[in-house]
Amino acid sequence: MDISSRLIKIVEMVPMSDTVADIGTDHGYVLIELLKRKKIKRGIASDNKEMPLEKARKNAVAENVENSMDFRLGSGFKTLKEGEVNGAVIAGMGGILIRELLENDMDVIKHLDFILLQPAQNPEILRKYLYQHHYRILEEELVREDRRFYEYLMVKYDPVESEPLVNHLDYVVGDLLLKKQHPLLKDYLTSKIKELEEIKEKINLTSVNAKRKSDDIILKIKELRSVRDGSDG
Ligand SMILES: C[S@@+](CC[C@H](N)C(=O)[O-])C[C@H]1O[C@@H](n2cnc3c(N)ncnc32)[C@H](O)[C@@H]1O
Repeated sequence: MDISSRLIKIVEMVPMSDTVADIGTDHGYVLIELLKRKKIKRGIASDNKEMPLEKARKNAVAENVENSMDFRLGSGFKTLKEGEVNGAVIAGMGGILIRELLENDMDVIKHLDFILLQPAQNPEILRKYLYQHHYRILEEELVREDRRFYEYLMVKYDPVESEPLVNHLDYVVGDLLLKKQHPLLKDYLTSKIKELEEIKEKINLTSVNAKRKSDDIILKIKELRSVRDGSDG
């Protein structure tokens, strides 16, 4: 089984646990690798479509770990009972869908020791939601694969201890990545600046609203540049 660096990072970040669920499992590689490395005792592979689940089952059989896995059909966390798993992974889905799945099943979410999120798009929308809805950010990571960056957020819902957090960079970059001066931080910021510059170029400055939007982007680019050029990462 040959798995990507994007998925390997997930496997590395998941702590030793009894049971972990993979929501939107598709091929099932994350749980299979976690079982092979003996980081978990049991895996619940969950997906809202039958074909991916069947794929996961076939891959688990090929790797001889199928007896340590459950395969469940359903949306998001609906396939889990409260307190049944220590933690969950959701990877490769858009940030907006991930936010929706978290919001839909708070009864399950509040029992989890960790949720590892790897949004495929809109990471800043998901990050803003997490910061503002009492999730503690336990760890953040970045991986670059084929010139694309992948963001990872290891979080825990904690309404008692955590205050809503504010991110002065508009949730584009996580505070933990900044604090630990992640080795990919400068390149990541450069790619975000480039994305913003491309958006700015496309704005047709014919209305007041468009001018305001362009000014906001210019400000954001300035902030990101100052963080990048002031950091020694
Ligand atoms: C792009 S794949 C990502 C697979 C794997 N997690 C990864 O990171 O490589 C997304 C998977 O999520 C599943 N999915 C989409 N919406 C879902 C939902 N609401 N609940 C559970 N699974 C869902 C899809 O069927 C698909 O298998």
